[in-house]
Amino acid sequence: MLPPGRGLLWLGLVLGSACASLGSAAPGSVATDALNVLLIIVDDLRPSLGCYGDKLVRSPNIDQLASHSLLFQNAFAQQAVCAPSRVSFLTGRRPDTTRLYDFNSYWRAHAGNFSTIPQYFKQNGYVTVSVGKVFHPGISSNHSDDSPYSWSLPPYHPSSEKYENTKTCKGPDGELHANLLCPVDVAEVPEGTLPDKQSTERAIQLLEKLRTSAVPFFLAVGYHKPHIPFRYPQEFQKLYPLENVTLAPDPQVPAGLPPVAYNPWMDIRQREDVQALNLSVPYGPIPTDFQRKIRQSYFASVSYVDTQVGRLLSALDGLELARSTIVALTSDHVFVMRIGV
Ligand SMILES: *[C@@H]1O[C@H](CO)[C@@H](O)[C@H](O)[C@H]1NC(C)=O
Ligand SMILES: *[C@@H]1O[C@H](CO)[C@@H](O)[C@H](O)[C@H]1NC(C)=O
Ligand SMILES: *[C@@H]1O[C@H](CO)[C@@H](O)[C@H](O)[C@H]1NC(C)=O
Ligand SMILES: *[C@@H]1O[C@H](CO)[C@@H](O)[C@H](O)[C@H]1NC(C)=O
Repeated sequence: MLPPGRGLLWLGLVLGSACASLGSAAPGSVATDALNVLLIIVDDLRPSLGCYGDKLVRSPNIDQLASHSLLFQNAFAQQAVCAPSRVSFLTGRRPDTTRLYDFNSYWRAHAGNFSTIPQYFKQNGYVTVSVGKVFHPGISSNHSDDSPYSWSLPPYHPSSEKYENTKTCKGPDGELHANLLCPVDVAEVPEGTLPDKQSTERAIQLLEKLRTSAVPFFLAVGYHKPHIPFRYPQEFQKLYPLENVTLAPDPQVPAGLPPVAYNPWMDIRQREDVQALNLSVPYGPIPTDFQRKIRQSYFASVSYVDTQVGRLLSALDGLELARSTIVALTSDHVFVMRIGV
C-alpha cells in the first residue's frame, strides 16, 4: 500500500516433485493421484519473518513451512497495491498486459479474457474454492472474486470483516475509536471474532469436506492482516516490547526525490489515532515513539497471522492431507516501513 520498494513473493512447496501429475491430466478429467493445492496469500506481508533472517519477528509456523520448502529469495512485486498485483500473479501476466495498475477495471472486460490459475485447475477437474481475500474485491474482480470463472463454489468472506475500519479499538481515553493501532480483546469485539480467525475456521471446515471428495481441490485462503488497520488479538503485542522494536534504518526522505515518487500515506492519516498527531502533509514526520508503535503492531499482526497459518497446516496434517497437498504461501506485495514509517 505504500511506495514501491523491495518486493516479496515466495512460495513454499511442501512436496518436491509436485506438479508433474497435473500436466498429464486430460482437460476436464484429472489423474487419480493428482495432488491438492493449498494457496495461502497474506496481505501486505513483507519478508520480516524468521525464515528470512529477521531476529525480532516471531513467525514459527511460517518458518517451519519454509524449512521444508523451496524459499524464494529474489522475487519482486509487479505493482505495490493489492488489485493489480493479485490480478497479475493469478493470471500469470504483467500489469502491462492486464492493463491494471490500480483498482478500477476488470481485466476480462478491459484487457483480455485471460484465464486465472484457479480457473485452469477448475477446467482440469479440480474443485476450486476461495476463502477470504484472494482477488481484491470490487470491480477489479467484477464484484464477484472472478466468479464463476475461477471458483467452483461461491467465495467465502468472513462476516466480521465489516468491523475492520469501525470504532472497535479502545483508546487510552477508554472510548472506542477507528484507529490504525488496534490491539483488541477478541471476546469484546462485535461477533467475538476477527476476520482471519473466521477464514481459518471456514478453511478447516472445507478441508474436512474436500478430503472425501472424489476430485482434488485447489483451496485459496487469503488473510487480511498485516494490512492496516492493525486490528489483532492484544496478546500478540506482548511478543514485541517497545524497547525491543527497532526503527526503520533509512527514515529520511531521499535527497532529490521527485514529489511524484513519494506516497504521503493518506490511508494511514485517516485513522483517528494518526489524525490526532496533526502530521504535516506530505512528509510528516511521524514522531519516533509512534513509529515504534506502528512497527510493534505490524509485527504483532504478522505473528497473529502466523498462528492462523499454523492452525491451517495442523489441520491439513491432522486430516492426513499434508502428503497429498502442495502448499504455497505468498504475499501480494511488500509493505514499506521507511521514510518515517
Ligand atoms: C461481470 O458481472 C456481470 C454481472 O454478474 C456480468 O453480467 C458480466 O458478464 C461480467 N463480466 C464479464 C466480462 O464476465
Ligand atoms: C472467457 O473465457 C471463458 C473460458 O476461459 C469463456 O467461457 C467465456 O465465454 C469467455 N468470455 C468472453 C466474453 O469471451
Ligand atoms: C527484548 O530484548 C531483550 C534484550 O535483547 C531480550 O532479552 C528479550 O528476550 C527481548 N524480549 C522479547 C519478548 O523478545
Ligand atoms: C492537534 O491539533 C489540535 C487542534 O489544533 C490540538 O488541540 C491538539 O493538541 C494537537 N495535537 C497534538 C498532538 O499536537
